[in-house]
Amino acid sequence: MRDTPRMSPESARVAPFGTTIFTEISRLAVRLGAVNLGQGFPDFDGPDAVKQAAIDAIRGGLNQYGPTTGSQALRQAVAEHAQRFYGQTIDPETQVTVTSGATEGIFDAVMGLVNPGDEVVLFEPFYDSYLASVTMAGGVPRFVQLRAPVEPSGAWWFDEAELRAAFSDKTKLCIVNTPHNPTGKLFTRAELELLHALVRERGAVLLSDEVYEHLVYGPGVHLRPATLAPEQTLTLSSGGKSFSFTGWKIGWALGPAPLVRAIQKAHQWVTFAVAHPFQVAIAAALRLPDAYFTQYVAEYRRKRDLLADGLRQAGFEPLIPHGSYFVMARTDRHRRPDEDDVAFCRRLIEQAGVAAIPPSVFFRPETAPSMHGLARFAFCKTDPVLDEGVSRLSRWAAR
Ligand SMILES: Cc1ncc(COP(=O)(O)O)c(C=O)c1O
Repeated sequence: MRDTPRMSPESARVAPFGTTIFTEISRLAVRLGAVNLGQGFPDFDGPDAVKQAAIDAIRGGLNQYGPTTGSQALRQAVAEHAQRFYGQTIDPETQVTVTSGATEGIFDAVMGLVNPGDEVVLFEPFYDSYLASVTMAGGVPRFVQLRAPVEPSGAWWFDEAELRAAFSDKTKLCIVNTPHNPTGKLFTRAELELLHALVRERGAVLLSDEVYEHLVYGPGVHLRPATLAPEQTLTLSSGGKSFSFTGWKIGWALGPAPLVRAIQKAHQWVTFAVAHPFQVAIAAALRLPDAYFTQYVAEYRRKRDLLADGLRQAGFEPLIPHGSYFVMARTDRHRRPDEDDVAFCRRLIEQAGVAAIPPSVFFRPETAPSMHGLARFAFCKTDPVLDEGVSRLSRWAAR
């Protein structure tokens, strides 16, 4: 009998993916009872009225597959929200498709638009699913680095020549994320116009991930890239961050009908349809009055300042985010010369009892060292958790 060669059961497509640092940090944080300022999701729920809408939808019998493009109620609400906040006119029948969170939207867009060998321009630091999706599609990533501001309240920036060099005849897609995780950057009009010009020159598509669209503190505003060049832009968003229901995984894509159709074609074989009652509830959330959105951002601004002040008192140098719910902070005063950001964050959990994310995970190995002097802290946490986090950091720094 011949020996069967021992082979990995994994496809070459997924074999390169390891366990993410997020999993490792969270495990360590739980094991050591650390305050978790690493995880990028709220430790509180969204509005009761939205929960009630989900309960009513379940009791009302919306418990079977919904339409593959998404429930009519949610598509209509997405179109109304786009008109209300951005002045966009969107046809809910042909220009919106609902996905399982923005994460599925990213995967579907890449699968629906990128052929093997096509190039995809990514800004790094990048939300990790961009690179995973591009890799699975056989696309070739081209990177442009966002660089930290010198002044703590300044804007992250990129080099125009580097951006131009990232585009080629093979560019099919460029992914932009504004407000940006993890830097909190708001892309400016001039930056977006440059991006659009390069995308247009190559006949490519701009995919804009706007899951933090309502978390904007300024200076600057959130400019939706699609409002500048609607014909070449797909917008993704979701109800996770805006309404504090990340576990519901309700997202959507909107844009020109042919581009939305490309997403829809992938979506129908990835999930086909997403949780029906939660779609109806997020439709209600998108229609909440303006007061909800103003209070929500005011509350987050207060939490941002609470965390930034606490970090400063503990000897870190927070780079004040202009959007999103993360603060990147320089760790130079505490970091040992031989430590990278991963080792520093491990030690912070062990010694201070506070978990943060090492930002090099949002970079390629070649460029990761530029992040070794930073850590990412999340402020989507209740005040007692933030207070406990900053007082632990202060006590640790004083020792
Ligand atoms: C930039 C960015 N895009 C997308 C997502 C995922 O969104 P969703 O939960 O809707 O899949 C996240 C979540 O952290 C994110 O930070």
